[in-house]
Amino acid sequence: MSRLRSAMQRGKSVVLENTEVKKSSNKKKTKATIKEEETSEHSSYHFFNDLPEISAYRSHLLQWYDQNKRELPWRTVAMTEPDVNIRTYAVWVSEIMLQQTQVATVIDYYNKWMQRWPTVEKLAAATLEEVNQVWAGLGYYSRGRRLHEGAKKVVSDLNGQMPRCTEGLLKLLPGVGRYTAGAIGSIALGQVTGAVDGNVIRVLCRVRAIGADSTGPAVTEALWKIANTIVDTERPGDFNQAMMELGARVCTPKSPLCSQCPIQTHCHAFRKVSIKQEQDSKRLQSKLASKPNTSVVDIENCSAGSCNLCLSEDWDSKQGVQNYPRKPVKKAPRVEKTLTCIVQRQRGQETEYLLTQRPSKGLLAGMWELPSMVLESDLSENKHGDLLCTMMQRFLDTLLGTDSFQFVGEVVHILSHIHQTYVVYSVCVSDCSEKEQEQNTCWLTKCALQGAAVSTGLKKIMKLYDSSSKANTRDIKRKLSPGDGTEKQSNKKKKLKVVAANGGPKQLSLSKFFSTSKQATKTKSKNT
Ligand code: ADE
Repeated sequence: MSRLRSAMQRGKSVVLENTEVKKSSNKKKTKATIKEEETSEHSSYHFFNDLPEISAYRSHLLQWYDQNKRELPWRTVAMTEPDVNIRTYAVWVSEIMLQQTQVATVIDYYNKWMQRWPTVEKLAAATLEEVNQVWAGLGYYSRGRRLHEGAKKVVSDLNGQMPRCTEGLLKLLPGVGRYTAGAIGSIALGQVTGAVDGNVIRVLCRVRAIGADSTGPAVTEALWKIANTIVDTERPGDFNQAMMELGARVCTPKSPLCSQCPIQTHCHAFRKVSIKQEQDSKRLQSKLASKPNTSVVDIENCSAGSCNLCLSEDWDSKQGVQNYPRKPVKKAPRVEKTLTCIVQRQRGQETEYLLTQRPSKGLLAGMWELPSMVLESDLSENKHGDLLCTMMQRFLDTLLGTDSFQFVGEVVHILSHIHQTYVVYSVCVSDCSEKEQEQNTCWLTKCALQGAAVSTGLKKIMKLYDSSSKANTRDIKRKLSPGDGTEKQSNKKKKLKVVAANGGPKQLSLSKFFSTSKQATKTKSKNT
């Protein structure tokens, strides 16, 4: 039987595509190829098929949004900016910043960015160094770099004009995927397209009881199909933002506020939970009355035999609507230890610190960091001195002995995919210069360091150093007092290690010089 016929008999929807195949004997042949839609092995239970229901859903959601939406700077621009080019640019910036970062964290970064580069032309004229500086602390640094690349492309290839449709945004702008293109297209350009981000995935999986792996292709395609079906045709941007807002504030991952949900009546997950609770209570009543249970409502369900959108594992009654969405178990983060050295020198009244620039590609591309090297997992602490000496030879003209280095402490920095521990040492150098041009290095004062393109990990290290320097000063003062034995001194290394691993002691007031902004520590991904 042909694939086409067998697919049809299984009740699948079938897409016929005319594909050009290789020419043979100078003739073009076309072949009907069949694509069985991934989303087709399930019942209408998981979709919206009823126009009045779609209409009611839109109106319930938009009414709630109009009364509850937060005033956010990019929303104001989208509503009030008459210049479509500026509007699209402004929404593009916001959507890139909002990828993997919470709204509250983004606001200040966004305002700062838009003040500095209010148009795509202005951004295109900036340097990557400036971009990294403004982005510092926001995490996922490639996002800033891609915005910058995109702006240069718009200016050089598109005559300064941002694409005017979702497809153009997707095709032409680096770092703009299906979600971001949908969001910019709908919010800035009024294009009628869905936008499925993490919040929307959660809302839709609950609303349509989609419990299969939400990261798999079948669910992804189904969610886009639903989003494109239900998006409001008059107010697509507001509708998409309302879905995101609902996911962020009501249909939350934990402790969702179902009683306040404007689309509760459309939610299959909510209905399932209510029915199950009713069933449980009736069962209990029957048991107590020693009667057979006759009035249990049959639960509404997907009618497909083996549905690829249904819950793949058993329902957990404690989880309620949180049974949706289901995600595969995350891979454990890589555990890494990095040897890091704070090299300081005195220039007049100023203390300066040696920094080195990361490669222009890969993790934290182009950012400035302390001289560092990844340690082998089973390496003994005794080897740190030799490694530090070797490492410093790469940067400085002067040869340093192992006893030049002071152990400062350890800093644990958890990124989304790496569990990083920095083993921090310091060294003071005098009369020595960095190797000319051999490495991309520079010396920065505390003040300059504050404003430079440096990661949150580096800021944490400098915080520790600052607090340990204060502890050292206190130690020295104590040492000078009679009766202060060496015991305390020998405990110093151990004490700092514990202190640092706990994220810094409260009693040590940290210098404002190296204050990691509150904003930065809130970055969802913790990836800086
Ligand atoms: N997350 C992504 N885009 C957003 C937007 N426009 N408003 C609120 N949260 C968002």
